[in-house]
Amino acid sequence: MGLKSLTDPVVLTMPGNERQAAALCALLQAKTGKAIVRHFPDGESAVRLQEDLWGRDVMILCTLDHPDAKLLPLLWLAAAARENGAARIGLVAPYLPYKRQDNIFAPGEIVSARHFAALLCDHFDWLVTVDPHLHRIANLSDIFSIPAVAVHAATAIARWIRANVPAPLIVGPDEESRQWVEDIASRCQAMSVVLEKQRTGDTTVRIVARGLPRADDRTPVLVDDIVSTGRTMQEAARRLCELGFRRPLCVAVHALFAGSAYGELRALATDVVSCDTIGHPSNRIAIAELLAAGVETVSRQAFPGGAMV
Ligand code: R5P
Repeated sequence: MGLKSLTDPVVLTMPGNERQAAALCALLQAKTGKAIVRHFPDGESAVRLQEDLWGRDVMILCTLDHPDAKLLPLLWLAAAARENGAARIGLVAPYLPYKRQDNIFAPGEIVSARHFAALLCDHFDWLVTVDPHLHRIANLSDIFSIPAVAVHAATAIARWIRANVPAPLIVGPDEESRQWVEDIASRCQAMSVVLEKQRTGDTTVRIVARGLPRADDRTPVLVDDIVSTGRTMQEAARRLCELGFRRPLCVAVHALFAGSAYGELRALATDVVSCDTIGHPSNRIAIAELLAAGVETVSRQAFPGGAMV
């Protein structure tokens, strides 16, 4: 893999993303750039570049769980790259937050998804992410004015399920998961079903199961894009067990796991597995190759006339 349309590409890494950055640099044959990101004793953020970025294509790798704490230092680093002559600055964000706030659900709220995208567009020239939660906003281009590419973990998840689960029944906990569930099931040549979810609060969820096949020896594999409070997966797992199914295996793309959610879900499942878009003990499915493919796609599509490396 190489980036023919980017000039002397360099990856800057926000703290906590070092392992993913090393994998990405190796796949893209890009250099790792040096930068210090730290906090002053009073909590304000400080960045210092230790790399000559003049005329170069810069990628900043930063997964954006806990975005409120990460955003400002990330924007400072992008500003430093810009002020120090970077030709273009891309953001590789394996997890892109605020995508579930894609509507005004009650008077006085805002569509945070749009505001967050606008902040990123002010500082970056392109974006690559993994399975953003696109529901009421259909495409990244509806909210991003910069080239933005979403890569999909379905292939990697399906490969993992094929290698590890002999007879899977792929189950989606809610209608929004259908897009991932059906794709993964067809790649695994397995049957899929999608349950119905009613969410009445941040941590209150009801799952209704209709049209399920008879419980048999298959292992239900619950698949969702995000596990946050874990209530969706927990209630779906409980419902399956009440209906006589085996304890499910739970697979998520993005392992947010707020508070005690991970432990609570493990108590209900045979195992909990996630992609490494967010560093977490459940990470079992690597996505560096997907990120590299995304960077290649965005650089080829958006900057076809760039200088050759
Ligand atoms: C929403 O539809 C998403 O796909 C997930 O189902 C949801 O974000 C999971 O949230 P929680 O873990 O808090 O139930």
